[in-house]
Amino acid sequence: MTTLNYRQQQLQLKPNETVLDCLLRHGVALPYACKAGMCQACLVKAVGCTATEESSKWIKPALQARGYTLACQWVPATDAGAELPELADFAVTATIRSLQPLNSQVLQVLLDIADPRSMFAYRPGQYLTATNPAGVARAYSIANDFAVEGMVELHIAATSHGEFTHWLFSTARAGDQLYLRGPTGTCFYDVRDDADQPLLLAGTGTGLAPLLGIVRDALRQQHTQAIHLYHGGRTPDQLYLVDELQNLARKHPDFHYHPCVIEAADNPALRPSLGRVEQVLVQDMAKAKLSAYRIYLCGAPAFVHGLRKKLYLQGARSEHIHCDPFTERTVVPD
Ligand SMILES: Cc1cc2nc3c(=O)[nH]c(=O)nc-3n(C[C@H](O)[C@H](O)[C@H](O)COP(=O)(O)OP(=O)(O)OC[C@H]3O[C@@H](n4cnc5c(N)ncnc54)[C@H](O)[C@@H]3O)c2cc1C
Ligand code: FES
Repeated sequence: MTTLNYRQQQLQLKPNETVLDCLLRHGVALPYACKAGMCQACLVKAVGCTATEESSKWIKPALQARGYTLACQWVPATDAGAELPELADFAVTATIRSLQPLNSQVLQVLLDIADPRSMFAYRPGQYLTATNPAGVARAYSIANDFAVEGMVELHIAATSHGEFTHWLFSTARAGDQLYLRGPTGTCFYDVRDDADQPLLLAGTGTGLAPLLGIVRDALRQQHTQAIHLYHGGRTPDQLYLVDELQNLARKHPDFHYHPCVIEAADNPALRPSLGRVEQVLVQDMAKAKLSAYRIYLCGAPAFVHGLRKKLYLQGARSEHIHCDPFTERTVVPD
């Protein structure tokens, strides 16, 4: 039996049990969301031991050096110790500047950073981990560049029964405080690698947030090749920022916005393609040389993984496909 020391208690780990599952089993309220190494909500500090390489490789070297690791990926082979992190030690304090509906399901959340010098450097399209006043931590993609705009823009969708989103949509107000950690993720525009290649971006729902960040960044850096952005919803009212994207397309002839909806709608201003994003895109790109494209896929995990496979089979190079599946916590209802 392996022992996990936590606040003067000796907890017994089951064979192959993660530190997260052991702590939860013993009633410790450790935040977590994905259990997949993605959301970074389950950060703990290894005490009197070294966490496994597997559990630490996901986080920034500066945090690794201070003993931090991901509890959902840590399966100790020998006795170990863990403590919960003091977020104020290393997270950035933000306050809500505004909450604006982008459609009936999505809020634009603008955040001010209490001490702008403390803000971590990131590229638009990467994601951060936000912890709300109740200690609930979730991952959200960043739609803008703090270095340019001096605030952080997130797009967050309402989720029925969701803990974080219930707080955000029902209780949160301008001035409320959040802790932010980051950045994580490889969905961003890299001018050294991407500047001379066409870009293909596709997302569903709030998958638009990181894609918009990447498009804005690429245009700001005067990207020279075509940029195709596909955004899908069931109906036109599930799309958002349509006017901004249409204006951007008018201003930049190499930027092409492709709204896609599944259900037909009489909307002459939008003129969306009819069908699922993945169907429309694969058809549009049937004759394109996909090996040249830099590809970014964000949103629902089934959509991201399915389209990744299709594009790879159609000639895209796997090292040029960047994905952010918005993995959610799995909740088994009582
Ligand atoms: C890399 C990454 C980037 C992301 N970026 C974004 C983004 O930019 N925008 C965005 O909106 N989201 C994003 N997400 C998703 C986000 O992190 C959260 O998962 C999402 O907001 C839901 O969080 P929640 O706390 O509201 O739901 P949770 O409390 O985590 O609930 C998870 C699921 O369980 C269901 N559930 C919970 N309780 C019950 C119950 N009692 N009965 C039945 N079902 C239940 C909920 O309906 C929900 O579907 C991202 C995720 C990842 C991993
Ligand atoms: S990274 Fe551990 S729960 Fe998401």
